[in-house]
Amino acid sequence: MKIAVIGTGYVGLVSAVCFAKIGHQVIGIDKIAEKISKLQNNEIPIFEPNLKEVLEEVVAQKRISFTTDLAQGIKDVKAIFIAVGTPQDEDGSADLSYVLQACEEIAKFSSQSKLIVTKSTVPAKTGEKIKKLLKDVRPDLNFLVASNPEFLREGCALDDFMNPDRIVIGCDDEESKKILSDIYDFFPASKIYHTDIITAELIKYASNSFLATKIAFINEMANLCEKLGANITDLSKAMGKDTRIGEKFLNVGPGFGGSCFPKDILALVNIANQANLKLSIVETVVESNKNRLILMVDKIKKALANNLSGKKIALLGLAFKANTDDIRYSPAILIAKELLKQNAIISAHDYQAINNSQNELKDFKNIKFYQEPIDAIKDSDLIIIATEWQEYCYLDFDKIKKITNCRKIVDLRNIFKPSDIEKHGFSYHCIGKQINFDQ
Ligand code: UGA
Repeated sequence: MKIAVIGTGYVGLVSAVCFAKIGHQVIGIDKIAEKISKLQNNEIPIFEPNLKEVLEEVVAQKRISFTTDLAQGIKDVKAIFIAVGTPQDEDGSADLSYVLQACEEIAKFSSQSKLIVTKSTVPAKTGEKIKKLLKDVRPDLNFLVASNPEFLREGCALDDFMNPDRIVIGCDDEESKKILSDIYDFFPASKIYHTDIITAELIKYASNSFLATKIAFINEMANLCEKLGANITDLSKAMGKDTRIGEKFLNVGPGFGGSCFPKDILALVNIANQANLKLSIVETVVESNKNRLILMVDKIKKALANNLSGKKIALLGLAFKANTDDIRYSPAILIAKELLKQNAIISAHDYQAINNSQNELKDFKNIKFYQEPIDAIKDSDLIIIATEWQEYCYLDFDKIKKITNCRKIVDLRNIFKPSDIEKHGFSYHCIGKQINFDQ
């Protein structure tokens, strides 16, 4: 089927490439000319494992093309997926202006009715708003509207798209349901979950907020473990073995970040507020994750005898999680800002996020960026693991001991085994295990 995807960010680009991979004829549309010209040359404007290879494959099969020209791009397509950003507004609600603008342009430039599907995360009742807008702009056409939220994670986005736990198709009419079922007929029928539009819209927010709740819960349990001398790794593993709880998303860390959880959880609170309802659990999770930053900075300070001024800190990891270059709401960046404000001197490293971080932290003088972790570590007083890049697990501690007097590690992702680090003569402070800051 001929389909268009508007927006070539993480969700839009991965979806466009994967739709082409499963056999559709796809056109990716974006207003940003620089992005489109990169994509036309098989260059990926973001870092996402395997995306370039699959893009090259579908380009060779002539199944995908890219344009900035929306009118031309949507001309012959049957369905248009909207995957533009829905950034956070000042009050925490999702800003729908890019979504609505795309819909308005589709309406203006269409000569026949089409199916318009929201893939962007949009608040409940956005489908209704879109239907009204389309009718207002083009009373002569009968556009179809549907919701098909995306659940892919950055860093493993292709795998998540190609092997989904479920595909949610939200439609209020049979024709839209038929078109979307055809688009997804590559996947087993058992994976497809049909709902109405408003429920599909809400499923996305509820899923992200529930996962964020799971993380906030386990992080709070880690705080308790630290106080009582219990072990969070054993606790979360044993909890996860209960199939009613599940093992995933029980990894402790410096708090959840990224472009989705922090934004979506606030948007859900806002959606409920609009309906005169208080979601007390979700509101508490927002608060708990905010407090996490303070706790993490406190932990780092304690490892440096409560004085950050002039202390040299090697910050390993800047991305909001491993396998991405994305630093939006990255706990590592938020921590870096706080440490810099308290006069620490940072030498930072990341495998993919240095460019984005340099830009984000350009106003701070006391931070330098290094291409190799070992260069960032040189001369430091403390090493912080802020992002769980697997490569950090293989740091050469014998080499580190030769180039620096630093013997302290604060591991905010629990990537090491305490005994492994301690045998090298380092003091090791991690999450959710009793800590002795006197070492
Ligand atoms: C999240 C959801 O997992 C996707 O299903 C959803 O499609 C996406 O948002 C979205 O709405 O577009 P993503 O933000 O890419 O995906 O990243 P996650 O892997 O979910 O991680 C989010 C944050 O939680 C990261 O800061 C990560 O470090 C943290 N996290 C995750 C933990 O601290 N512990 C865990 O066990 C898992």
